[in-house]
Amino acid sequence: MNSYNPKIVVFACNWSGIAGSSELKANPSLQVIDTMCSGRVDPSFVLQAFSSGADGVMIIGCPPGDCHFISGNYKTQRIVMLLRSTLSQFGIEPERLKLVWGSTPEAVGEFADRVAGLGALSRSTAGVN
Ligand code: FES
Repeated sequence: MNSYNPKIVVFACNWSGIAGSSELKANPSLQVIDTMCSGRVDPSFVLQAFSSGADGVMIIGCPPGDCHFISGNYKTQRIVMLLRSTLSQFGIEPERLKLVWGSTPEAVGEFADRVAGLGALSRSTAGVN
């Protein structure tokens, strides 16, 4: 158990089972943002989250084949691959960005623990702000 309590932004598809979770929304270290589809998460939203103080960002979408907008989750998968590469170029560990299909509050907690292990995101060395 790491003592650092990271700030995590979670973009949760409305259909993923996480959106609207009162358990997650009650956690002051988490900012849960509901979306109608993971495909609506613009890459700039993720970069803005890191720039605004997030230590980690999680995107939760519907499993492959279950997206209510047919291919939004596949689009998100491609964007996350590109974003992880971009984050590396800014000195941000790509593990700070995670995409999952469907999810549980426990999975969010596990991600937060992994980010806690990385420590606070150093914005001065990461080239953000
Ligand atoms: Fe959930 Fe598209 S509707 S990922």
